[in-house]
Amino acid sequence: MAAASATTFSVGSATSFGSTKSQSKAFVAKYNTRNYLRNFSGLKAEAFVRCESESSFLGRESAAALRQSIPPKAQIEKQRCFNHVQPQASYKVAILGAAGGIGQSLALLIKMSPLVSSLHLYDIANVKGVAADLRHCNTPAQVFDFTGASELANCLKGVDVVVIPAGVPRKPGMTRDDLFNINANIVKGLVEAVADNCPDAFIHVISNPVNSTVPIAAEILKQKGVYDPKKLFGVTTLDVVRANTFIAQKKNLRLIDVDVPVVGGHAGITILPLLSKTKPSTTFTDEEVQELTVRIQNARTEVVEAKAGAGSATLSMAYAAARFVESSLRAIHGDADVYECTYVESNLTELPFFASRVKLGRNGVEALISFDLKGLTEYEQKALEALKPELKASIEKGIAYAKKETVTA
Ligand SMILES: NC(=O)c1ccc[n+]([C@@H]2O[C@H](COP(=O)([O-])OP(=O)(O)OC[C@H]3O[C@@H](n4cnc5c(N)ncnc54)[C@H](O)[C@@H]3O)[C@@H](O)[C@H]2O)c1
Repeated sequence: MAAASATTFSVGSATSFGSTKSQSKAFVAKYNTRNYLRNFSGLKAEAFVRCESESSFLGRESAAALRQSIPPKAQIEKQRCFNHVQPQASYKVAILGAAGGIGQSLALLIKMSPLVSSLHLYDIANVKGVAADLRHCNTPAQVFDFTGASELANCLKGVDVVVIPAGVPRKPGMTRDDLFNINANIVKGLVEAVADNCPDAFIHVISNPVNSTVPIAAEILKQKGVYDPKKLFGVTTLDVVRANTFIAQKKNLRLIDVDVPVVGGHAGITILPLLSKTKPSTTFTDEEVQELTVRIQNARTEVVEAKAGAGSATLSMAYAAARFVESSLRAIHGDADVYECTYVESNLTELPFFASRVKLGRNGVEALISFDLKGLTEYEQKALEALKPELKASIEKGIAYAKKETVTA
């Protein structure tokens, strides 16, 4: 049976995370985005950023539909923030694991963001050179480097968004358990430091296995007494980026228009692209649904095999992570029109963590979007049920790991 997408898009019911307290933000540097960009990027980049400010990376149709679904008050807020205040932004972003494959490329992309005034790069080694190199780019963000555990606290003080790509990628011969044990320990240590030094920051976890490292981070933050489920995110943006790219290629659509929600988790069959919800409305044969779903789920392997033992996805991952950072900063800045798929604490299914589209606001997740999970095709419904046991086991493994570890006081 062909899976056709709905002809109209509305957010439908959203699950609120409860009340949010407002966060005041002092803008240190004020600058005109257009003038700045003309200084360092040329006219092409200027046009790019003006377009990005409007709709970020969402497909145009979805962005417009989502915008229509925002209540008038929120629209007024968005207008106020983005027509009049938009060029004033000055946020601090930290990357933990900044000397790695993902970290370096991500640092470059964030150095190009007009929303960022300070970029803090942390790693256990080799980060000085990365920072020295980046400082030669004539973009406004100032770059600071921090090496080793003794400098971690200073790296994190006053930061708005912390991105964690620290860890090891899975290499040939490495079991999933090997990867789990190494990265779980790294994430635990770094999240403890985040809890101690910038507990109000948005935390973006990239280190795999995300299905487990996010529950680990949640437990550590709980043990430290600073857990805010609205601000802890597993970065699954690469799955969306891949889904949009592969579907646009397959169906000969304009990339800028394509928007496909990807739900579930972030490994193998737990990655569930909802092709029936593709924007613009697109029909797929059963064979196409199967082929595209499997390709999106196994996309990592395409890169690992092509790199022949030299690592996994770093450039596309950095691009996806930069998109998620930009979305977070726009939300913190007051844009009322920011939606992303991400793996968060959730009550959309019986699982305590689940990736879905969420609405981002100043204080993190403002709403979990349940609309995408309504009216699934039979294929998608079966795939959703099939992913649950694996995702549940990964969540439980993460929680069990964190519970048997004691946090450092
Ligand atoms: N979420 C996703 O979609 C996605 C996609 C690709 C890769 N990943 C994951 O991202 C992680 C990083 O991948 P990579 O290719 O950049 O690896 P990499 O080995 O190139 O870089 C990892 C970096 O982390 C650093 N590091 C190790 N321990 C650290 C610690 N305690 N504190 C700070 N830094 C530390 C290393 O020194 C290194 O520079 C891996 O876990 C990988 O599986 C996630």
